[in-house]
Amino acid sequence: MAILVTGGTGFIGSHTVVQLLNDNREVVILDNLCNSKLCVLDRIKEITGKMPKFYQGDILNIEDIEKVFKENNIDSVIHFAGLKAVGESVAKPMWYYHNNITGTLNLCNVMSKYNCKRIVFSSSATVYGKPQSVPINEDFPLSTTNPYGETKLMIERILSDIYVSDKDWSISILRYFNPIGAHESGLMGEDPKGIPNNLLPYVARVAFGKYDHVNVFGNDYATPDGTGVRDYIHVVDLANAHLKALDRAAKVTGVEHFNIGTGVGYSVLDIIHAFEKAVGHEIKYEICERRPGDIDECYANPKKAYEVLGWKAVYGIDKMCLDAANWQKKNPNGYGD
Ligand code: NAD
Ligand code: UFG
Repeated sequence: MAILVTGGTGFIGSHTVVQLLNDNREVVILDNLCNSKLCVLDRIKEITGKMPKFYQGDILNIEDIEKVFKENNIDSVIHFAGLKAVGESVAKPMWYYHNNITGTLNLCNVMSKYNCKRIVFSSSATVYGKPQSVPINEDFPLSTTNPYGETKLMIERILSDIYVSDKDWSISILRYFNPIGAHESGLMGEDPKGIPNNLLPYVARVAFGKYDHVNVFGNDYATPDGTGVRDYIHVVDLANAHLKALDRAAKVTGVEHFNIGTGVGYSVLDIIHAFEKAVGHEIKYEICERRPGDIDECYANPKKAYEVLGWKAVYGIDKMCLDAANWQKKNPNGYGD
């Protein structure tokens, strides 16, 4: 039996595929490469000694999904495929709704047809909107502030409704906090197109001379040093949560939501200082205006994931920055062309 990993050549997907292969699980990837590169497969092979089966295809195309199910014995799916840039989703909402929601509906339809009813879905802490307090529990009220977040929330609801209609489904909804870091080999990491929107890849580029300084978006938040606080999680820790979720899905049916974070919040300045430690030199920054839509603090209560899945994060912020720095140093142009 094989696990279908949609979006398996992307940042989180590729790290998850490595953990799955290292655990001797059979993996099939479906990705249209709209935000990832084919050479990721070679990196996966270099790390694990195994080449995962790969289909270049689109979840918007039912035939592409069907082909994978026809040719393989898929018993569960980890569903990463989706568009993820908040700003882009505001500019191009129809593209985001179509890709993320229609794509997921297509996938679930094909899964149902082939009697494959186990899915682990990549949701996001963004579904908590501006949380009433921190740490955030899974039962906090849900709201969103942009089309990207709305697609995550809608998909969560769609999956819940699928379970209501058919109690054979096992649905694990993982709400990721802020994934950063890279594989410790330096062979795989985050490879954003153009200028990164997220803090970590930006800091990494400043640290290795691609940009002059980090723009710190506001220092008047209600946080200890005034800069935004987030729950950064090492991508390999995050990847491992998917293996635990798959194991759980094989045992129980239902819909379950899990926060996947460390439970510790770090400010923008904490991150810059941790990265300075990782690279051994100063990183320039300038305080500038707040970024619209940003919140003060966001960090998880990850207790449920520990109690129910037996998962918890093991890597701290220093390791996250060390691995991200190693990746950036060895791959200044990401995966290249
Ligand atoms: P990513 O862009 O690196 O990976 C997503 C992959 O999906 C890419 O390889 C892309 O080519 C593929 N894809 C997109 N649309 C597709 C389609 N229609 N058909 C087939 N493949 C398609 O992103 P990531 O950071 O690895 O994120 C993976 C998932 O986790 C996404 O669903 C994202 O929304 C979610 N998530 C990410 C973060 C984060 O900060 N990285 C946080 C919370 C949730
Ligand atoms: N920040 C800066 N300068 C930058 C980039 C970011 O100061 O150049 C600050 C932000 O203001 C925020 C913190 O760094 O305080 C983290 O920002 P990111 O953009 O790295 O991450 P966000 O928390 O804004 O958003 C991320 C993902 C979303 C996801 C959310 C919750 O990008 O898709 O985490 O999981 F929804």
